[in-house]
Amino acid sequence: MIKMVFMHQLQYYAERIPWNGFKPYGKYKELQGNSVLLGLKGRKTRKGFRYNYNKPVYLDFGIDSNNPLNLLIMGRKGAGKTTISASIGFQLWKYFQCNLFIIDPQANIPAFKYPQTNPTFLHYLEEAGVKSEPMPLHVLTPKFFRGSPKFKNTDTYYSVSMDDIISIDEFSFKRQLLASLLGVEDQEPSMRKLDEVMATDPQSFERFKKELENLNKSNKFFDRIKVLDNNFKRRLSEGVISDYDKVDIVKILNNQPVGLQCSLSTEDKINMTYIAFALYSIKAGMEAGKIEGKTVFVTDEADILAPSGNKNPPSKIPLEHMSTKWRKDGAIPINLVQDPARLSTTILQQVDAVLTPAIGYNTSEENFIRSKFPNVSTMELMQLHYGKSSNYPKEWALITSQGIETFYPLPNPFLMTL
Ligand SMILES: Nc1ncnc2c1ncn2[C@@H]1O[C@H](COP(=O)(O)OP(=O)(O)O)[C@@H](O)[C@H]1O
Ligand SMILES: [Mg+2]
Repeated sequence: MIKMVFMHQLQYYAERIPWNGFKPYGKYKELQGNSVLLGLKGRKTRKGFRYNYNKPVYLDFGIDSNNPLNLLIMGRKGAGKTTISASIGFQLWKYFQCNLFIIDPQANIPAFKYPQTNPTFLHYLEEAGVKSEPMPLHVLTPKFFRGSPKFKNTDTYYSVSMDDIISIDEFSFKRQLLASLLGVEDQEPSMRKLDEVMATDPQSFERFKKELENLNKSNKFFDRIKVLDNNFKRRLSEGVISDYDKVDIVKILNNQPVGLQCSLSTEDKINMTYIAFALYSIKAGMEAGKIEGKTVFVTDEADILAPSGNKNPPSKIPLEHMSTKWRKDGAIPINLVQDPARLSTTILQQVDAVLTPAIGYNTSEENFIRSKFPNVSTMELMQLHYGKSSNYPKEWALITSQGIETFYPLPNPFLMTL
């Protein structure tokens, strides 16, 4: 009981602390400056919930600056991370002419291609002056998922082409990716064979096949290259690699948002290799000036694709480089995680702002916020400890070096099935 009273008093005072750096301007309708709309202030009432339509909460990405924001979105499963990240990405694409690339291991983004139809949500949106709009998303799926019911809402199935491989300029990494695509381990003799074939500089998988056959003929120790030979043929027939099913991601990206659907439950390593190749071809496009402006990379399940510690899935290095080196070429990372402690520390170090719904005491989330934003007061952190309602709208917090800002996300302008 005492604890309850204490909490309420804290809440009472906390609500009276002026938010640092919070300067709402205009109405949502008059979206301006460098900011995207995160949501609105609101409050729970006895009858339910009310948005305060006069109090929008924005986030300035600093798109025009040399150093745009690096955003981390954290929250448990079902918190609404994917939804809010799509909304932010869409706004950056629509109002700031950013390119938008979404990595979607759970394959739930195709839903964003359809407008919102829920009447209650439509009412909220209308009140806020927002229209329900479909996202003109191009959904890409690795070709070997063709036929799987989970991946039927796909615009293009694609394979890794030799061009994708050649476009990676870092040799050791190219080698590692190719090996993981072909299921060859570093210590195996077949790895040496792979190196030998690649040393002939094959410009296509057709060429690769020829060189491999030549080696087969001249080699007495046939077993040694059997693994490579078998895996290569299998990958070709599965459609994992191909000269013909390649997709010009850069070209599509210049016109519309692109979502790469994959699955982390099957063929994990191949999927993560795919993601790495996709990222590298976009990076090559940015460097070569084939992509105009900034590119926003929304990475769902970033803590699986780029984990902390000494796990090193193929997608880890490009995602780390995106947060560090690639930003000068115009990359804007938005990483989504369930648990920040599981995300690569290289990426964590680069985070400028965090979005999260209410968090628990003494969790790794809280510890991360404390260490990352030492100026955030305990009082402010207390704000995050209540309102753990599982119903929408849920209260969220934006945490920056300026302090904490709370808001309720608008119902998604894209279709959400509830
Ligand atoms: N802003 C929102 N308005 C209404 N419902 C939402 C909103 N965000 C999320 N939801 C609901 O919660 C579910 C989970 O959201 P999702 O974004 O997939 O969460 P996460 O990615 O954190 O697991 C969605 O399917 C949707 O039904
Ligand atoms: Mg999600």
